[in-house]
Amino acid sequence: MAARLLLFLFVSVALSEAQFPSGQRLKPRIQRDRRNIRPNIILILTDDQDVELGSMQVMNKTRRIMEEGGTFFSNAFVTTPMCCPSRSSMLTGKYVHNHNTYTNNENCSSLSWQRQHEPRTFGVYLNSTGYRTAFFGKYLNEYNGSYVPAGWREWLGLVKNSRFYNYTLSRNGVREKHGALYPQDYLTDLITAESIRYFRSSKRVYPHRPVLMVLSHAAPHGPEDSAPQYSNAFPNASQHITPSYNYAPNLDKHWIMRYTGPMKPIHMEFTNVLQRKRLQTLLSVDDSMEKLYNMLVETGELENTYIIYTSDHGYHIGQFGLVKGRFSFTV
Ligand SMILES: *[C@@H]1O[C@H](CO)[C@@H](O)[C@H](O)[C@H]1NC(C)=O
Ligand SMILES: *[C@@H]1O[C@H](CO)[C@@H](O)[C@H](O)[C@H]1NC(C)=O
Ligand SMILES: *[C@@H]1O[C@H](CO)[C@@H](O)[C@H](O)[C@H]1NC(C)=O
Ligand SMILES: *[C@@H]1O[C@H](CO)[C@@H](O)[C@H](O)[C@H]1NC(C)=O
Ligand SMILES: *[C@@H]1O[C@H](CO)[C@@H](O)[C@H](O)[C@H]1NC(C)=O
Ligand SMILES: *[C@@H]1O[C@H](CO)[C@@H](O)[C@H](O)[C@H]1NC(C)=O
Repeated sequence: MAARLLLFLFVSVALSEAQFPSGQRLKPRIQRDRRNIRPNIILILTDDQDVELGSMQVMNKTRRIMEEGGTFFSNAFVTTPMCCPSRSSMLTGKYVHNHNTYTNNENCSSLSWQRQHEPRTFGVYLNSTGYRTAFFGKYLNEYNGSYVPAGWREWLGLVKNSRFYNYTLSRNGVREKHGALYPQDYLTDLITAESIRYFRSSKRVYPHRPVLMVLSHAAPHGPEDSAPQYSNAFPNASQHITPSYNYAPNLDKHWIMRYTGPMKPIHMEFTNVLQRKRLQTLLSVDDSMEKLYNMLVETGELENTYIIYTSDHGYHIGQFGLVKGRFSFTV
């Protein structure tokens, strides 16, 4: 079930071959040049975004940028489809049994995680090779803002789980509370503005240093607050009504499927609301992608930047009668 509704991955790479010359004779020169031209890496991570439920259909800007300029991996899978374990695996490259973050709370951002695994994330390694590293947005569900994880030169980490308003950030170790005013507090837009500002200023001061940035959005996770201008979008969104929608019970399947009967009308109405609200939040992520792309064009860095767009895992809304979640969990 979880694996069916999972993940997708876009990678946009625009590197010319000339940037990787070969030949022993030129080694010292090449090494110097390579240091100067190593590509920027920008990872955009959404929270609980599905591909099977049609979420990319509403992200026209992202699709134009990433599909025309890059590659779409339709068979990308995560090893553990829950926020914290999946994010921990992305950070370390390790399976969950090697970092012990089995659930969204126990061991998530724990002291043992901090001691054993956090010093070995891709942020740490890329920083140590000279990348200017920056992280913006949701980190791990139980991250409480009491420290700045190793490896991130610029840190704007969301305390605890996804929210769009009324959240706390750790800004390089200093707590920053946010309220519920759209122009200054909406998390998607804040991540966009802060990351663009960081990239520009990094290139201004250190034009030859590559940048690694993570933009880790809350969308389309609950509480699914959309930007005000999108709050009426997709009134009749129905992409979640797939062939397996409300197909229940399934007596020959896993125990959860055996015990799950058809949804009641009130649950079905809820799935419609949820689909609509999730799609609305993604419109701001779509805008974010366009702003980021335009900034890369403007700074002349597009051709030397890897942009990766993906999610921590997928989602289900009404499939096999399961109202919402990534299985029966709603975290
Ligand atoms: C995306 O593009 C399609 C096809 O051009 C169009 O029908 C749809 O309205 C667009 N969606 C949004 C959210 O702009
Ligand atoms: C938490 O981590 C410890 C130490 O690695 C491990 O023994 C324990 O099983 C983990 N707990 C869970 C729920 O994964
Ligand atoms: C935050 O978590 C750390 C362990 O990672 C713990 O020592 C500390 O007491 C927690 N602080 C708060 C305010 O919860
Ligand atoms: C980044 O790497 C440099 C060089 O190894 C090190 O001095 C610095 O402390 C690192 N910064 C972070 C934030 O980890
Ligand atoms: C934010 O907090 C205020 C004050 O507690 C509350 O009135 C408001 O509903 C909250 N807004 C959101 C979107 O959580
Ligand atoms: C949405 O569905 C309602 C009820 O079926 C219908 O009256 C309305 O015209 C539809 N709206 C759009 C934008 O398609």
